[in-house]
Amino acid sequence: MPEFRFELMAVDGAARRGRLHTAWGVIDTPTFMPVGTAATVKAMTFEMVRQTGAQIVLGNTYHLMLRPGAERIARLGGLRRFMGWDGPILTDSGGFQVMSLAARRKLDEKGVVFSSHIDGSRHELTPERSIEIQHLLDATITMQLDECIRLPSERHETERAMELSLRWAERSKQAFQPRQGYGLFGIVQGGTDLELRARSAKGLAAIGFDGYAVGGLAVGEPQALMFETLEGTCPHLPTTHPRYLMGVGKPADMAGAVLRGIDMFDCVMPTRSGRTAQAFTKRGPLNMRNARHADDPRPLDPEADCPATRDYSRAYLHHLVKSEEILGATLLSWNNVWYYQEVMRGLRQAIEDGRSQQFVADMLASEAAGDI
Ligand code: GUN
Repeated sequence: MPEFRFELMAVDGAARRGRLHTAWGVIDTPTFMPVGTAATVKAMTFEMVRQTGAQIVLGNTYHLMLRPGAERIARLGGLRRFMGWDGPILTDSGGFQVMSLAARRKLDEKGVVFSSHIDGSRHELTPERSIEIQHLLDATITMQLDECIRLPSERHETERAMELSLRWAERSKQAFQPRQGYGLFGIVQGGTDLELRARSAKGLAAIGFDGYAVGGLAVGEPQALMFETLEGTCPHLPTTHPRYLMGVGKPADMAGAVLRGIDMFDCVMPTRSGRTAQAFTKRGPLNMRNARHADDPRPLDPEADCPATRDYSRAYLHHLVKSEEILGATLLSWNNVWYYQEVMRGLRQAIEDGRSQQFVADMLASEAAGDI
């Protein structure tokens, strides 16, 4: 079984090109992790997901503990076997989803008690139970339980949540059972307060994790503020370990974050927008519901190596969307996840070649140029 190890292969400014070795495969970074919340990357088969170049997918403690249940997934051989994905998986710890989805939440030092958004049943999530669930799921990368607050927030509230998340980080580390090739990530909190972010990052580094996530961003703040926060956070994280920006984002957000030292991303955007008629392309996003596509025989990109992008006309995609055919969601999700991977491939090559700034500038110009 390979060791869990991050290999830094090239650096270009703050941007990093690396390779994360895990029990279930290698992940080239910068990387984008498609979101498979309920043990499925919505509307796609894992053959399609694999074909886009994805090397790791995400799962969610919150959703899976409620349905079908973590103990059941463990009996069925763990999440990878249950869903038929043969690569590494990262599972989020549940705190963030409890805050955004569950009803009647009560949070204290011990953890969070909440009602399921599915059937109203009561559940408890503590740092220890979250880690236990992620062990049952057989997560290759386990996330600590944290508290993510909404922005903007009062400093004392941001500080309270950050300090609580640090104490939960310590408890998560205690509860985690190390296994060869598996890792545990801490999560930096602290809102947009750079002093709090620095304290959080240093506190986590002192505990010692296999990787460090930046949480609490992409919660409605402007992009410039997110970038500023990353500039005040990344320098306090160990250069020897991977850094993961949670829940981000648009291609331009990810590209800007890579230039500031981030290695890993996840976001529902490519799949969610694939179900609402949006197609990401080199020339910016297209709304396939728009009537201008109705007679357009061109594919989204004839040079792409993704079948959804290359082999179907815009007219056909428009028709599928208009008729609410399931295949429309599948093809657009496939195209979008492929485009996100294409951005990551481009970034990795550009960092190796020492031209990451130029690559990002060209990408933004191309997306802004619009469709032709
Ligand atoms: N997903 C997006 N943001 C966050 C965060 O701050 N914490 C966790 N656990 N998951 C997230």
